[in-house]
Amino acid sequence: MDLSQFRQALGSFATGICLVTVTDETLGPLAMTVNSFSSVSLEPALVLWSIQDTSDHLQTYTECPHFGISILSEEQAALSSHYAQRGGHAALEEHFIVGPSGEPQLIDAHVHFTCATHATYPGGDHQIILGEVLDMTLRDASPLIFYGGGYRGLS
Ligand SMILES: Cc1cc2nc3c(=O)[nH]c(=O)nc-3n(C[C@H](O)[C@H](O)[C@H](O)COP(=O)(O)O)c2cc1C
Repeated sequence: MDLSQFRQALGSFATGICLVTVTDETLGPLAMTVNSFSSVSLEPALVLWSIQDTSDHLQTYTECPHFGISILSEEQAALSSHYAQRGGHAALEEHFIVGPSGEPQLIDAHVHFTCATHATYPGGDHQIILGEVLDMTLRDASPLIFYGGGYRGLS
């Protein structure tokens, strides 16, 4: 199978964009842009995302007891680019409040989930992280959409 065609096919699946957040004891509050978020289970309430094995913050995210998932609103595309930069994952005070488990919670996010790490599984060149949702904040906004390598709104 041709790898670039595979990438292109995966990019043709429209997703939302999230910031996965954590407060690391040493590094402080962190945020990383991801589109691998997915729902898993209603009872118990489980969601997942996956992190590249090469990430500088692999250990932080696979070993933390709690983390946050903020789903971006349509007007927050600039934050997606900002928190996707290598070495650019320090969560800036102007973008976040402190969430229920101490994790950064994005201001004006479409949805914010507070999660307890439930399980971590190897998945090829990624680790799949399953989180149990402990708390959530839902705002009546329009989500940001990622499709074909670009950002869009629902309209
Ligand atoms: C739209 C978009 C989606 C992304 N989704 C993921 C993802 O699901 N998992 C992941 O590990 N990195 C994802 N990334 C890459 C990270 O945001 C970040 O660029 C990468 O982790 C940088 O490496 P570092 O963690 O070593 O700083 C995505 C980036 C973009 C722009």
